[in-house]
Amino acid sequence: MQTKAAILWEVDSPWSVEDIELDDPKAGEVRVKLAASGMCHSDEHLVTGDLPFELPIIGGHEGAGVVTKVGPDVSWLEEGDHVVFGFIPSCGRCPSCSTGHQNLCDLGALMGLGMQASDGTSRHHGQGKDLGLMCMLGTFAHDTVVNEASCIKIEKDIPLERACLLGCGVVTGWGSSVYAAEVNPGDVVAVVGVGGIGANAIQGAKLAGAKQIWAIDPVESKREKAMEFGATHTAASMAEAMEPLGEASWGTMANKVVLTMGVGSGELMAEALALTAKRGRVVVTNIHPAMEASASMSLLDLTLMEKQVVGSLFGSGNPRADIPKLLSLYREGQLDLDGLVTKTYTLDGVNDGYDDMRAGKNIRGVMVYD
Ligand SMILES: NC(=O)c1ccc[n+]([C@@H]2O[C@H](COP(=O)([O-])OP(=O)(O)OC[C@H]3O[C@@H](n4cnc5c(N)ncnc54)[C@H](O)[C@@H]3O)[C@@H](O)[C@H]2O)c1
Ligand SMILES: [Zn+2]
Ligand SMILES: [Zn+2]
Repeated sequence: MQTKAAILWEVDSPWSVEDIELDDPKAGEVRVKLAASGMCHSDEHLVTGDLPFELPIIGGHEGAGVVTKVGPDVSWLEEGDHVVFGFIPSCGRCPSCSTGHQNLCDLGALMGLGMQASDGTSRHHGQGKDLGLMCMLGTFAHDTVVNEASCIKIEKDIPLERACLLGCGVVTGWGSSVYAAEVNPGDVVAVVGVGGIGANAIQGAKLAGAKQIWAIDPVESKREKAMEFGATHTAASMAEAMEPLGEASWGTMANKVVLTMGVGSGELMAEALALTAKRGRVVVTNIHPAMEASASMSLLDLTLMEKQVVGSLFGSGNPRADIPKLLSLYREGQLDLDGLVTKTYTLDGVNDGYDDMRAGKNIRGVMVYD
């Protein structure tokens, strides 16, 4: 069939919205008519080259939609089912999946190539070329074909233009606080960067019982919005937070520091550690440029204060359990998804959406399709 998708043909160029040819799903795959896609900063890393995935690629990894065609050997999905895509697939059989770490599923290793997990080929073609898919999904499109391992079936009463946010930002941010940082009741938490990920790290920290939540972001409107998600204090930078956070925590500093800036910075790691309490933990959720291989930090501080630095992918969670769980928190009014969506766009507006993200205007921009 023919459909429309936003393609990145080369680094440092705009997304090109074009008609593409989409093949039928093969064994283990489904075709999905997308309802909406969130615009995460990780797709911007494709544009800047910080994430050096194979091009050309259809962008987008935060999507939800309706199954329109089921390939052979898929027993648990049928036409009309509503699905959210996990931005990392979960096969259910690899060592990570089978030990409760679906976020680290072995199939995730295929992500940089962007082809179908089943046979390494493409179902998407544009201008006579095979197209890769961001996170093997390609949600910047009206329709896509994905492996069943990427699909999480959800209940039909949840609006898909909210549910899409669970495909990356919500689980990543919430899990960064709840699972990776292991925020405890009474903790002082600092969340550095209040975008789609940071806003959810704040919500996670609040639900986990943090006493103080410091939202750190240079953009004033982000700091204001952070208070609505549960932040108790704000600062424009880690350097500016140092003194007031020290005072407010009676010298203890932050038990947990969650890094969710647009682009990670090795140079800023020293500040993050300085903000961290004895036996505290820094969670590195933001993505650093692939070529950045050094970070500055006091390693003596690490030893003498028993500080920890940990990475976190997809909130260190299990998408098959966490996506339904967080949707149920939304349904019961304990998780704000509506407030995350600052502005909606059409597929043709993809470049406007990323201009707004670069200008710091959006917590999350979401493309809503017909
Ligand atoms: N680890 C994962 O699984 C995972 C998943 C999704 C996204 N990410 C990454 O998380 C990061 C955040 O993504 P997003 O979509 O929320 O981005 P975003 O652009 O929506 O938000 C980033 C925020 O960081 C702020 N910021 C920039 N520099 C800062 C600094 N020095 N100090 C404080 N704040 C600063 C910006 O003003 C902005 O509000 C990106 O690097 C993204 O690639 C990681
Ligand atoms: Zn993302
Ligand atoms: Zn797996």
